[in-house]
Amino acid sequence: MRIEDAKIVAALNDLGVELRPSAWLAELTSLAIGGTTDLLRIHKHETIPDLLRLLDSHGVPHRFLGGGSNLLVGDGELSWVVLQLASPDPDVVLEGNFAQVDAAADLGRTVTYCAKHDLGGMEGLIGVPGTVGGALRMNAGAYGMQIGSYVREVKLYRAATHGIEILRGEQISFEYRHTSFAADDMMLAVKLELPSKSFKEILQGIRICNEKRRSSQPLGQKSAGCIFKNPPGASAGRMIDELGLKGLSVGDARVSDRHANFFVNAGNATAKDMLMLISSVRERVRSAFSVELEHEVVIWNA
Ligand code: EPU
Repeated sequence: MRIEDAKIVAALNDLGVELRPSAWLAELTSLAIGGTTDLLRIHKHETIPDLLRLLDSHGVPHRFLGGGSNLLVGDGELSWVVLQLASPDPDVVLEGNFAQVDAAADLGRTVTYCAKHDLGGMEGLIGVPGTVGGALRMNAGAYGMQIGSYVREVKLYRAATHGIEILRGEQISFEYRHTSFAADDMMLAVKLELPSKSFKEILQGIRICNEKRRSSQPLGQKSAGCIFKNPPGASAGRMIDELGLKGLSVGDARVSDRHANFFVNAGNATAKDMLMLISSVRERVRSAFSVELEHEVVIWNA
């Protein structure tokens, strides 16, 4: 979608919002799939209510993009614009055991920065790509930990009230790859409380998780992590593997040979290829195990 109305362009400029026309979302997603649309980069949280009022009053549909690492975007010209937070400098501020982190901060860098200051707990998340905001919204987790356990406060833009709010950790529910945030809430910043640990000890934990990840996941390939959530008490990856579906392809979309719940873009896969592969695998799991797999990856196709 292109914003061509000069009035909107001028208002964006007044708000200090950067307009990047016809951004190619394949370049902004870890799957390297996705069509084009205008990208609006937000440099100040405080401008968001006015920005959203502007877009709503002109009937411009929009979506919030984080790090693009758990996302499958449709092909071609997209029918909504994308909003993305620019990362401030610094994006992590420490005070005792608390880390005040901007939602646009890179998750891996945040974990490392905290580790260097003897704050641990998030060792399992070191290899998870994406932003802190994305990890927060999905309650990212790995190797027995989840980010939600450390959240004490969240600053967010609430579309329902058109305002910026601060929620306390107890007001938010964090479940397996799910949170109580509304779909149109925009994560802005988070205050984490992290346990004190020596850098050496944290590094050891990080090494162990990295090793496990390297040996079981296709790290060098373009993917969005696990495509499906694990059904209660079962493993989506193991079920897909048991059906002999590793290597199954539609165009360049392919079930990873290393981990069957990772679907990779092995070249020039389109969203259409990936969606066909997803529904074909889902169908086979349904008929073999009578289990309805739920997407973990967020799909922006309509
Ligand atoms: N397995 C197979 N074949 C496969 C893949 C897995 O037999 O192709 C088996 C493994 O041998 C193991 C079991 O299935 O016995 C579980 O596999 P794994 O330990 O790799 O964990 P997972 O349940 O597949 C989850 C998360 C990952 C996270 C890892 C490590 C989900 C959907 N996935 O994977 O998170 O990194 O645990 O904690 O919850 C993500 O969220 O995108 C993600 C990759």
